[in-house]
Amino acid sequence: MKQKIRLGVNVDHVATLRQVRGGKAPYPNLLEMVRESVRAGAVQITIHLREDKRHIQPHDLVLLSEKCPVDLNLEMAVTPQMVRMANRYKPEWCCFVPEKRQELTTEGGLNVIQSKLKIQKAIAKLQARGVEISLFIAPNLQQVKAAFEVGADAVEFHTGHWVLYQGRKKQNEWKKLKQAAVMAHQLGLRVHAGHGLDYEHAQEIKKLPYLKEVNIGHFLVCEALRKGFYPAVKKMVRVLK
Ligand code: PXP
Repeated sequence: MKQKIRLGVNVDHVATLRQVRGGKAPYPNLLEMVRESVRAGAVQITIHLREDKRHIQPHDLVLLSEKCPVDLNLEMAVTPQMVRMANRYKPEWCCFVPEKRQELTTEGGLNVIQSKLKIQKAIAKLQARGVEISLFIAPNLQQVKAAFEVGADAVEFHTGHWVLYQGRKKQNEWKKLKQAAVMAHQLGLRVHAGHGLDYEHAQEIKKLPYLKEVNIGHFLVCEALRKGFYPAVKKMVRVLK
C-alpha cells in the first residue's frame, strides 16, 4: 500500500551554530531556516528544548509557537517544567524523549514501562489541551504495548542504532522495527521514525510498514552547509515520495 510520509525537519542544530557564540550572534536565523524547510515541502518543524539549553532556547519555542507556518513538534523530557512549557505554548505535537545531561544526542528510547504513571499523567494533561503525543521508543514490543496503555497517539521509533549497524545486526534491527511498527498499527498508534536518517536510510525507512512520519535534523543541517537548506530538504522530500 502506497502511503504519504510526512517530513518533520528538526532545526536544533541551526540553533547549535548560533549558541556556540553564546547566543549573542543573531545568525543563523532559525525562522528563516524554518521557512526554507516549509518552502521545500516539510510539513512539520521539530525542536528539542533540552534541560541544558544547549541549542533550542525557550525564546525559540515562544517564537515558533507563534510563527511556525506548519505543525510544531516539541521534543521534551517528561519533567514538570517541560510539561508546563508545553501546556503554555501548545505545540501541535509533543514527543516525549529520555534525556541525559552528558549525552551527545538522544541515545536511546524512553522506558515507558518504568515511568508509566508519570508519562500517563503528562499525556492526559497535554491531550486535554489539544496536543497530540508521540513517545520516542526503541523498537521493542513491550514498550509499544506500554505506549498504547498510557494513551499515546503515536510512537516514534529510534532508528539511530539501525542506521549505524552493519550486516546481520542491521538486518535484525530492521526486523525489530518492522514487528514493532505492525504491532503499533494494530493497537491504533501512529507510526513515526527518526534519528540519524540520511538520504540513503530515508530511502529504506520508506519501506517500514504503516510509517506516517519521519523527523530528520542533523543530516539535513550538514547537507545545508554544502548546498543550502532549501535544496537539502527538497531532496529529502523527493526521496520520501
Ligand atoms: N527524533 C527524535 C525523537 C530525536 O530526539 C531526534 C534528535 O533530536 C531526531 C528525531 C532527529 O535526529 P537527527 O538529528 O539524528 O536526524
